[in-house]
Amino acid sequence: MSHDRYRLGFHIAPKAGWLNDPNGLCQFRGVYHAFFQFNPMWPQIDTKYWRHFASLDLLHWKDCGTSLVTDIKEDRNGVYSGSALVRKGAASDGGDLMCLYYTGNVVYKDDPEANMDFVHTGREANEILVTSEDGETFSEKHVLLRNSDYPNVCTLHVRDPKVWEQDGRLWMLLGARDQNDQGMVLLYGSDDGVTWRIKSQVYSQNPFGYMWECPNIVQIDGHDFLAVCPQGLPDEVDRWQNLWQAGYFPLEGSILDTLLVDEGTFVEWDLGYDFYAPQVFVDESGRTILIGWMGTFEENRTSSPDGLRWAHCLTVPRVLTIGANGLLRQNPVSEIEAARGEAIPLHASRHIAIDEHRADIVLTGIEGVGALVLDDDAIEIAYTGKKLEISFSDAKVSGGRIDRQVPLDHLDDLRVLVDTSAIEIYANGGETVFSTRWFPTADMLKVEAGFRSEGAVMYPMEDAMADAFVDSHDM
Ligand code: FRU
Repeated sequence: MSHDRYRLGFHIAPKAGWLNDPNGLCQFRGVYHAFFQFNPMWPQIDTKYWRHFASLDLLHWKDCGTSLVTDIKEDRNGVYSGSALVRKGAASDGGDLMCLYYTGNVVYKDDPEANMDFVHTGREANEILVTSEDGETFSEKHVLLRNSDYPNVCTLHVRDPKVWEQDGRLWMLLGARDQNDQGMVLLYGSDDGVTWRIKSQVYSQNPFGYMWECPNIVQIDGHDFLAVCPQGLPDEVDRWQNLWQAGYFPLEGSILDTLLVDEGTFVEWDLGYDFYAPQVFVDESGRTILIGWMGTFEENRTSSPDGLRWAHCLTVPRVLTIGANGLLRQNPVSEIEAARGEAIPLHASRHIAIDEHRADIVLTGIEGVGALVLDDDAIEIAYTGKKLEISFSDAKVSGGRIDRQVPLDHLDDLRVLVDTSAIEIYANGGETVFSTRWFPTADMLKVEAGFRSEGAVMYPMEDAMADAFVDSHDM
């Protein structure tokens, strides 16, 4: 059985090495760019670089190599996460300028004498700017903020700048852990993108995790949503079931005027096993698009079975819109549909098999309970009337992921993207989303849609990543 069976056909993943957070997402001079946290030496040495993929259509991507490496003292232990800001007309040719903001991670060598805890002592977090005029070559690095610049309430854990433009100024969110082990974000303002001054500190009304990573802002139709990834929330039956969580607070007003958020309003983006650290950007057509890390740090779940040389992938790009309940819906960008082959009707109680292990399954007008079963019973996505239950028949296929239930008081429609070893489930027009990796052993994809529904079709999906690595070189 070849490892190639797990390679993805419409999700970004490295050819070899470890991937985590998406970084620097943008559409720049017409081209989409997605960078990500990358450790080419994995499973050795946990340093991080920015690997770079580019695309004209959000479906066919090219691996452009490693763009940012650890080459100054301020980022010597990792080019950590950050975002892109495209500044209109700011390049020397009068065109747009790509500005990449990231955290330079520095961890001091452990010295028992020095008694370092790596929270209050023993590390640095530097915010750094790199620019590009062509999306291929990158400027020298400019260190903008160091630990001494952050408010005294912060520990040394401050990172993951999200920069955007609003009301004629530039704004930066940073995730932080404060001296009381409470997660929070810092908001900075700037006129030139280089000199930054603190504007506010945003807290939850009651403590909500010890650290907030990867802050982000979503602004749609005059509504602001503050996204964060809290570490340290307890595991509960129906929520917060992963190691760390990723979600958002719908805000009452503008992020620029917000000092407190109500932790009771926190909504998780995705209830699957493999989702964290998403980033959001607005493309040239004005769509707000989210891409998440489809992976996990949990040690009892594998994402690289059988000695696979790469670990993890990104989700497909998802368009964000506001649903009738005021919360955000996520749906795959329509560009993904260009990979669809001819529609195959699905019937309850009869499985259909296709050669590709890639499909876009669409069920509409669902009535009552039922189940979608893939590869005999390798994975079952069942609706019980109150919950969506995801279960695996075999721990090898699940890579250690165990059955999970997601509260869902009705089910109208279901869309399931199956891309060899990645599955994304979208229910009720993208109101509820569930992402998971799995490692199927069957050669063909078998689908059985045991639901009563108005529509039930499956589209085999093209391998859109077949040429992604053609000109790429490792590292
Ligand atoms: C989130 C995170 C970020 C950090 C990066 C390092 O997954 O911990 O806070 O910048 O990963 O890879």
